[in-house]
Amino acid sequence: MTDTEEIRLEPCEPGVLTPAELKTLFLFEKLTDEQLTWIAEHGCTVRVAAGNLVIREGDPAEAMFVLLSGTISLTRRVGQDDVVTTRTEQRGVYMGATNAYLRDDGVPRNYMASMRALSDSEFFMLSATDFGWLMREWFPMAIHLLEGLTLGLRNTQAAIGERQRLAALGALSAGLMHELNNPAAAASRATGALRQRVAAMRMKLGKLAAGKVAPDRLTALLELQEEVIERAAKAPALTAMQTADLEDELGDWMEERGVTAPWDVAPVFAQGNIDTECLSQIEARLASPELLDQAIHWIGYALETEQLMSDIEDATGRVSSLVLAAKRYSHLDRAAHQWIDVHPGLDSTLVMLAHKIGDVRVVKDYDRSLPQIPAHPAELNQVWTNLIDNAFQAMGGEGTLTVRTYREDERLVVSIGDTGPGMPPEIRKRVFEPFFTTKPVGEGTGLGLDISYRIVVNGHGGDLTVESQPGDTKFLVRLPISESPAA
Ligand SMILES: Nc1ncnc2c1ncn2[C@@H]1O[C@H](COP(=O)(O)OP(=O)(O)OP(=O)(O)O)[C@@H](O)[C@H]1O
Ligand SMILES: [Mg+2]
Repeated sequence: MTDTEEIRLEPCEPGVLTPAELKTLFLFEKLTDEQLTWIAEHGCTVRVAAGNLVIREGDPAEAMFVLLSGTISLTRRVGQDDVVTTRTEQRGVYMGATNAYLRDDGVPRNYMASMRALSDSEFFMLSATDFGWLMREWFPMAIHLLEGLTLGLRNTQAAIGERQRLAALGALSAGLMHELNNPAAAASRATGALRQRVAAMRMKLGKLAAGKVAPDRLTALLELQEEVIERAAKAPALTAMQTADLEDELGDWMEERGVTAPWDVAPVFAQGNIDTECLSQIEARLASPELLDQAIHWIGYALETEQLMSDIEDATGRVSSLVLAAKRYSHLDRAAHQWIDVHPGLDSTLVMLAHKIGDVRVVKDYDRSLPQIPAHPAELNQVWTNLIDNAFQAMGGEGTLTVRTYREDERLVVSIGDTGPGMPPEIRKRVFEPFFTTKPVGEGTGLGLDISYRIVVNGHGGDLTVESQPGDTKFLVRLPISESPAA
C-alpha cells in the first residue's frame, strides 16, 4: 500500500544531461539552445531502484519527472484499491507537477497519481517552481490557452454538478408534488361537500325542532342516527353490483312511503350497507309516519358526513405518510453516519418513485434478519433512487422490478433487478463512467451511476456491479457488514 510507504530517492545529480541530450526528449525538442542550457542547469538526474515508489498521490506536487530509462507504473486510489492507470517504458514520458504553470489560485497542487519504478529507472527532474517559471516566461500565450482550458473545464464541471444536484432536487420535489396532489385534492373536495352537508343538517335540525316533535321522539331519532352510523362503519364493503341492487330496493321502499327525493337519499344508505330491514326498524321505532321523511333525510346527512370525514382522514393520512417518507428519504431528522437497517430506505424510495411504477410489478424479497450496517442513509437513498429509476426507465412502464436483500459472507447485498432489454457488453463496460448515457439529450445526464458508484465504493467501502442479459438486468450493491476504517 502506498499510504505508509516511505519515499527514499537517491540524491539528484545535476549536469548529467547535456543540452543536446535533452533535445532528444520529445518534450524539449523544439526549444532553443539557450533554453535547453537553462533547463540543463536547473534540472538534475535521479536513479530509482526497481520496486520503489517515486511519487505518492496526494503529496504536494514539487517536481516534474521525465522518464529517461526503465519501466514505471502510475496508480490511482479508487476506494480502497490502487488501480493501475498506466504502465510504460516510453522514453520521454513526463509526470508529476505537470500543472505547475497554472495561475496560483490558492489551491495547493498535489500529485494526481502515484508512480512506482517497476525496473531500475532513471528520470530527469525539474522542480515545480522552475518548470512553472519557464512555462510562464517562455510560452505566455500557451499558458493563457491552457489555463482557459483547465479552469474552464473545472468550472463547467462544477456548474454541471450543481445543476445535477438541482435537477435531482427538482425531480424529487416534482415526484413528491405529484404524489401529494391526489390526496390533497381529494381532501379539499371532501371538505367542500362536508361544509354543504353540515349546513343542511343545521337547517334540518331547525325544522325538526320547530315541528311538533315530542322531545322523546327527538331523542329516539338521535339514538337511531348513532346506531345507523355504527352499523355503516362495521358493514362489509359491497361490490358495485350489490350496491346498485340495494339502491333500487331502498329507493322503492322510500317511494312507497312517500319519502321526498328518495333517489337522492337511497345511494347514501346503500353506500353504508343499510338495508330495507334496517329502515323498517327505524320506521317502527319512530312510531310516527309523518316523522319518517324527516328522519330518513336526517340520518342520510349523518351517514354522508361520516363518510366524507373518513375520506378526509384517509387523504390526510396519505399526505402525512408521504411527508414522512420524504423526510426519512432526505434524512433531515437524523445524523449523517449511523447504523441502519437498509429496508426502510428501500421502501421509502419506492414510495417516492411510486408515480413511475405504472404497470410494473414490484417484488420485494427482503431478508429481514440482516444486521444493521454502518452507513450514510441519505446517500444510500440516492443510490437506490438512481438504480430503481434506471430500472423503471429501462422497462418503459411494464415488467417486473425485483428488490432483493441477502447476505453474502461479510457483505450485505442489495440487488435491483429489472426485466428490461438489458445492455450489450460494450455499453455495460461504460455505464459507470461519468456523463455516459444512452438517453436522448436533455433526458439523462449520465451521472446517476457515477454518483452511485462513488457513494458505494468510496463512501462505504462497498462494491457496485452489474449483470445483464436481455430480460434480466441486476445491479448489485455490496456493503460491508462490519465497520471498515474507510466507511
Ligand atoms: N437497468 C438498466 N437497464 C439497461 N440499461 C441501463 C440500466 N441502468 C443503466 N443503464 C444504462 O446506463 C446508462 C447510464 O446510466 P446513468 O444512471 O449513469 O445515467 P442516465 O440514467 O442515462 O442519466 P440520469 O441518471 O442522469 O438520468 C444509461 O443511459 C443506460 O444506457
Ligand atoms: Mg440514471
